[in-house]
Amino acid sequence: MTMQANSSPYGLIRDAAIVVENGLIEWVGPADKLANYPNPDVIDAKGAYMTPGLIDCHTHLVYGGNRIDEFEMRLSGATYEELAKAGGGIISTVNATRDASEEELVKSASKRLSYLSKEGVTTVEIKSGYGLDLKNELKMLRAAKALNSTNVDIITTFLGAHALPPKYKGNQQGYVDLVINQMLPAVKAENLADAVDGFCENIGFTYSEMEQIFKAADKLGFKLKLHAEQLSDQKGAALAAKYKALSADHLEHLSEESILAMKEAGTVAVLLPGAYYTLRDTKLPPIELLRKHGVPMAVATDSNPGSSPVLSLKLMINMASTVFRLTPEEALVGVTRNAAKALGLKDRGVLKEGLKADMVLWDIDHPAELSYQVGGSQTLQVIKNGNVI
Ligand code: NIG
Ligand code: FE
Repeated sequence: MTMQANSSPYGLIRDAAIVVENGLIEWVGPADKLANYPNPDVIDAKGAYMTPGLIDCHTHLVYGGNRIDEFEMRLSGATYEELAKAGGGIISTVNATRDASEEELVKSASKRLSYLSKEGVTTVEIKSGYGLDLKNELKMLRAAKALNSTNVDIITTFLGAHALPPKYKGNQQGYVDLVINQMLPAVKAENLADAVDGFCENIGFTYSEMEQIFKAADKLGFKLKLHAEQLSDQKGAALAAKYKALSADHLEHLSEESILAMKEAGTVAVLLPGAYYTLRDTKLPPIELLRKHGVPMAVATDSNPGSSPVLSLKLMINMASTVFRLTPEEALVGVTRNAAKALGLKDRGVLKEGLKADMVLWDIDHPAELSYQVGGSQTLQVIKNGNVI
């Protein structure tokens, strides 16, 4: 059985066959319509369900240290915002990341990546944003790129506007200028990132600071993304839509007006239930309105040491349904088709002729089991570019 795009429910084809050649899907359809291929290498899926390879479209997988102290402080009542304002939070990871060598960053992230990969993730986006100076932002992006392998494609995003480095206290515009005048051109010159992201928040960067960065990034040909409306409504998602960003992410405090702007611009809503859960948030993203207005919804881990120490996209499929009330079909589309869209990738995310043969075979009896089960392994086989890994 296999799941294709554009038909419902799940685009399911029973008793299906898939023909793969040179890493691409050459044909998908009912097995009884399969043409004759001379001497094929056959994998018998024994009736198992097959989906596209999963795509984690929002992570901060490369970083130094951890934030266990902060986790314990939050358990005793401190909030994420309070810790950030007191110089902890993102900045404590910046210190640990600056202290780490590129090799150390690759080593620790590669262990984390292996957990995602084992569960069927074949494409992972990784952001910078814990360097916050030219040298360390480039180091992070190089480390992320080094994680690219035959098992998993890495897509990199430059997140220089993640937090204000302490050196620039009282001179936020000075740091924005540094991002625009030095970091963006350097990232471009080395081709280290496809997209530019930012944290539009009262503990991050304002609408107008982000707009300056978006304008400059857009001019250099970067795709755009934005951490928006996580803790408050800064109209970040509307800004993202104004600049035709690929996605606006988090969105707990998103307004209907911004949803309409996202719809108009084709900006994907990336939902991050791991951060919602970890921060014990109580304000749900406006799922019903996103659904009503037809904004595509993606789901990702947001894997990071602070707000989402999550190394399972499978668990996010469950939480997207259980906590955010996505249907199991929406949750699955969220980690495949819409996750590809959130990265601007047209060559994956559905099982369709001409697309990458990134596929997962599952030990399930119904596709909704991917949302239903918590823990345990359901992954039988992961296929990347047509090869079993
Ligand atoms: O997506 N919100 C901002 N950035 C990350 C958290 C980073 C951190 O706390 O280290 C996020 O949740
Ligand atoms: Fe994030």
